[in-house]
Amino acid sequence: MRILSVVGARPNFMKVAPIIKALACHPAGFSHILVHTGQHYDAKMSAAFFADLAMPRPDFDLGVGSGSHAVQTANVMLRIEPVLRDAAPDLVLVVGDVNSTVAAALTAKKLGLAVAHVEAGLRSFDMTMPEEINRLCTDVIADHLFTTDRIANANLRREGIPAERVHFVGNVMIDSLLAHRELAERRAFHASLGLTPRRYATLTLHRPSNVDDRDRLAGMLAGLAGLAAEMPVIFPVHPRTRSRIADVGLAPPDGDATRGIRLVDPLGYLEFLDLLMHSRLVLTDSGGIQEETTILGVPCVTLRDNTERPVTISEGTNRLAGTSRAGIVAAIAEALASPAVPRMPEKWDGRAAERIVEIIAGLRPGGR
Ligand code: UD1
Repeated sequence: MRILSVVGARPNFMKVAPIIKALACHPAGFSHILVHTGQHYDAKMSAAFFADLAMPRPDFDLGVGSGSHAVQTANVMLRIEPVLRDAAPDLVLVVGDVNSTVAAALTAKKLGLAVAHVEAGLRSFDMTMPEEINRLCTDVIADHLFTTDRIANANLRREGIPAERVHFVGNVMIDSLLAHRELAERRAFHASLGLTPRRYATLTLHRPSNVDDRDRLAGMLAGLAGLAAEMPVIFPVHPRTRSRIADVGLAPPDGDATRGIRLVDPLGYLEFLDLLMHSRLVLTDSGGIQEETTILGVPCVTLRDNTERPVTISEGTNRLAGTSRAGIVAAIAEALASPAVPRMPEKWDGRAAERIVEIIAGLRPGGR
């Protein structure tokens, strides 16, 4: 069987890497084609991850780059269509919820190709999130839906997706984490920043709803000021956020309310994993980081009003802070006061990619 996988943005790479390895190891002898849409293109947002995860070079790089949602989605569709038509894979595999995911799935499906969605069924129930729209649209057309937890299965059941299409396999992002944990630890990136384990916090912020609104961003940074007075808060800054911080004049000069927040460039996979695993506390609006901190046993404060990953709260180390200054201050205090121990939600055991490939191996040619 010929499998074509699509990656586009930073959180896709660590999800596809273990699937590529599992396909290569399987006795069925799959052929694999990797397409990079180019949604993320900076070396630190893309090439660094290919190196850290030992991923093969993409067979096709579509170079779509940045743009409005319509421009970016349409460009992926226009550029991937001839690739899909020529390659005629038995199955097109998409992961996550970025614009590249929905664009590739829609194009493949309209060419009559079978589509598999990895990380299906996650729902924030917040239609102002572009990712929620991407998730819903991808899931409704996918032939095979691979889920990370039972809540996702229940979401899909409620939406009328036939049960035979849905497979609870576990979490491929955790496959990557467990496979690279020791390597990351040996790199000891935190030490190169002069940090002592468990005596610093890590912060990430990139969602447009958080960083594009000046008042909200200022309020959030104010909510972190108390923590930053107690310990360094390391902030690897997404390109979108850096430009926003500069635009609104919030770059933290010495001595203002954000003292102690240390801005650094976006980090590679191993550097960031090391930074996470030694953190006292992680503050984030990312989805995947809520999952990674659960497995690592690091308290996570999510700077959003909702999460599509509630299992990280019920069975993990995560809590929702909202985005107000008071909510963030309270959530930080609670997180610091409660003991955090590593938790392993069901099937987050490092073998999700193997399960996915085993299911794919049982499909007929043509992927159905
Ligand atoms: C995208 C995903 C989001 C994911 C995030 C991870 C969608 C709708 N959003 O958001 O779900 O959590 O990736 O990072 O697909 N930029 C660069 N260099 C790059 C890439 C982007 O400078 O390599 C800048 C550009 O100014 C661009 C902006 O970041 O306009 C936003 O990039 P984009 O891919 O549109 O969305 P993200 O915010 O990265």
